[in-house]
Amino acid sequence: MALVPDGAEAMVAHGCEVLVEQGAGSGAGITDDAYRDAGASVVGPDEVGSADVIVSVRDLPAGGATRADGSGSAPTFVGMFDPLWAPQRAQRHADEGTCAISLDLVPRITRAQSMDVLSSMGTIAGYEAVLLAAGRLPQMFPLMMTAAGTLAPARVLVLGAGVAGLQAIATARRLGAVVEANDVRPAAVEQIRSMGARAVEIDLSDAGADPSAAEDAGGYAQAQSQDVSGRQQALLAPYVAASDVVITTAAIPGRASPVLVTAEAVDAMAPGSVIIDLASERGGNCALSESDVEVDRGGVTVLAPTDLVSRCARHASQMFSRNLVTFLRHLAPDGEVDLRDDEILEAMIVTRGGAVVHPGVAGALDGPEPAGKA
Ligand code: NAI
Repeated sequence: MALVPDGAEAMVAHGCEVLVEQGAGSGAGITDDAYRDAGASVVGPDEVGSADVIVSVRDLPAGGATRADGSGSAPTFVGMFDPLWAPQRAQRHADEGTCAISLDLVPRITRAQSMDVLSSMGTIAGYEAVLLAAGRLPQMFPLMMTAAGTLAPARVLVLGAGVAGLQAIATARRLGAVVEANDVRPAAVEQIRSMGARAVEIDLSDAGADPSAAEDAGGYAQAQSQDVSGRQQALLAPYVAASDVVITTAAIPGRASPVLVTAEAVDAMAPGSVIIDLASERGGNCALSESDVEVDRGGVTVLAPTDLVSRCARHASQMFSRNLVTFLRHLAPDGEVDLRDDEILEAMIVTRGGAVVHPGVAGALDGPEPAGKA
């Protein structure tokens, strides 16, 4: 849920009227009565369109932001719809006249940290990925000295040490695994070590990589050339082969995710090993992964779930709602939407007045279709 009862109460206290679609909270264990108790009105799907601002975790269906009574201007929509990767979604909002604001585009600045839904969802995805792997691996994670002998700890490799990757490291360490991790951003080395994992440092300079250009001004990784990517795959292959669990989280905003684990690297893993690919929505980091399909390759299980965050719906909703309330207060400081000149709003407003106004998204619309996994 985009807004939990606590968040609805906060928005009511902010002077807003809150409408909640009937039954919308059931998947997260939140009843309609809990929303009523928080001061919100529970309404049917047809009445949601009467709101000035519609909030949703994901994108709205076509026509979802059209005024139910056909009157007035289209509402403002706030949600996650990954417009850099799927700019056609932005075009639809522009065509419908909606002012669409993307929560995928919260700028990585201190002032916006409490609005950062991507970090919140990354934290949960990293945690859940480890639990999923632990449940599927035919061995325990910690070192055990028992009367039946010593059991070796699981070896976990995390590729991509951003928010999700660092949380995966922390969770696997808590379970007692021996953890290694790799990221292209030089700054990640210290972060990996601070979570108790060994940083896998590979030298890509002979393939033309420039470590000082690995990160953009927003803190995100830059896309790599084919040569660098091929070299990275080759250098990571022995670490993949030696791991019981590989968790991949590597992503580049608006681009296909880099393939880090080739089919040959999977073939070199021991049967029973598990790969969890968190990047499958943008093509995936493992050449064999398919979104929400369980792939068995010579006894190695490759999973690429896209619903990991929903498995933890209570905390996911709580975190999303906190982030969202902070953003909504910023969007409407006096209770009315105020699309003023502001660094945070400018970074997140995608469509306005019937046009795609975000330069990056407009560029993605004009450019070639983003390439998926080869
Ligand atoms: P993300 O989800 O876009 O990517 C995940 C990770 O994959 C990143 O660490 C990225 O460097 C890595 N990656 C990309 N290509 C790779 C490759 N070929 N090989 C290995 N790793 C690769 O990134 P996320 O998790 O959203 O965070 C990106 C950065 O933003 C991090 O430095 C994070 O600490 C920072 N951040 C800053 C915040 C703030 O200042 N408010 C809030 C949240 C994150």
